[in-house]
Amino acid sequence: MNFISKSLDFFQESVIREMTRKAIENNAINLSQGMPDFSPPLELIEGIKKGVEEEEHQYSVTYGRADLREKIAKKLQKYNKIVVDPYNEITITCGASEAIASSILAITNPGDEIVILEPWYENYVPITYLAQGKPVFVPLEEDIYNVDEERLKNSITRNTKAIIVNSPHNPTGKVFSSSDFKTISDLCIDHDIIAITDEIYEYIIFDNLKHQSIGSFDSMQDKTITISGFSKTFSVTGWRIGYVAASKDLMGGIRKVHDYLTVCAPSLLQLASLNAFNLDSSYFNTLRNRYQANRDYFYDQLKNLGMKVFKPEGAYYMFANISQFDMDDVEFADFLVKDEGVAVVPGSSFYNNKNNNKNPGSDYVRFSISQKLETLKQAIERIKRKLI
Ligand SMILES: Cc1ncc(COP(=O)(O)O)c(C=O)c1O
Repeated sequence: MNFISKSLDFFQESVIREMTRKAIENNAINLSQGMPDFSPPLELIEGIKKGVEEEEHQYSVTYGRADLREKIAKKLQKYNKIVVDPYNEITITCGASEAIASSILAITNPGDEIVILEPWYENYVPITYLAQGKPVFVPLEEDIYNVDEERLKNSITRNTKAIIVNSPHNPTGKVFSSSDFKTISDLCIDHDIIAITDEIYEYIIFDNLKHQSIGSFDSMQDKTITISGFSKTFSVTGWRIGYVAASKDLMGGIRKVHDYLTVCAPSLLQLASLNAFNLDSSYFNTLRNRYQANRDYFYDQLKNLGMKVFKPEGAYYMFANISQFDMDDVEFADFLVKDEGVAVVPGSSFYNNKNNNKNPGSDYVRFSISQKLETLKQAIERIKRKLI
């Protein structure tokens, strides 16, 4: 008797998290999972102390602290140009991950199609299967990662329920242009489709590009589920504080799922997260400059090693073509992690495995560049030792 649900046949455990385990086993520098190796801002640490002093140890309201939701609503208005009611249209979740899960589970009927732009961040696909939805994979344009208007249009059917949008994009670092967003929003409006937008890297954006939120586009307010969180912007990936904003109707469904899935996000850390709103623009500029310096350094180094790389415009990853090394992505990642090497993520884990066809990601690996510059320099030394 197989006791495990059939929906689990469609996916495997996260390759990203598996590479972190391999990094630990091999004493390797971990450039696989996107997490910084430096401290979060002091204000947030002070927030934890305050939470302990105030004995903030019990469940919060399931939707999350009202004062935190109020601050997030103000931020959404100012930074994302989205107006939401903090009491009915925002929920604090256990990271953006749970916001993604609660949102997909809330809107999906069996057989509903969820459009996922390829390559994609791992979590979208398993959750779609768990919701008994059907992921529909639509490739972004090869190597430049623009939205392919024709292919996206052709993917829409009467069963399409949502399109998942992620900009700045993991794993490529692409920042979608206004025309990419317009293509998606026009389809959502014309065909009554929801945009689920994962904006977790919204503050990590380079070369003076401006972050755009699809929920701020004309007529998209009621058709958009906007997701973000504290993990990446404040270097607190382990705190598990994220949030989701949507119209009252959509939020009614999302809150039902959230309540039964997790009850609430960690109360003490919700309280500590309030202090993030005391940080001024210099904090966000420093964060951007830090990651842009990482980007510039690492991009040059990978190019010098002969790899073809898309120059990231945001987020903290680099998606590199490794085909000249006569190994596929999995062999390359295994080779690099061994014996105090460097852990990276095989590119195929960001693409749908098309049965017997070659996986388009098998020529790529993803490097996380979220670490200190000196860690990246050590990693490059190790990579050179292995490859040259
Ligand atoms: C695109 C994207 N969305 C969501 C997440 C998860 O965010 P959180 O830590 O808030 O769950 C990640 C983490 O790597 C990510 O890359």
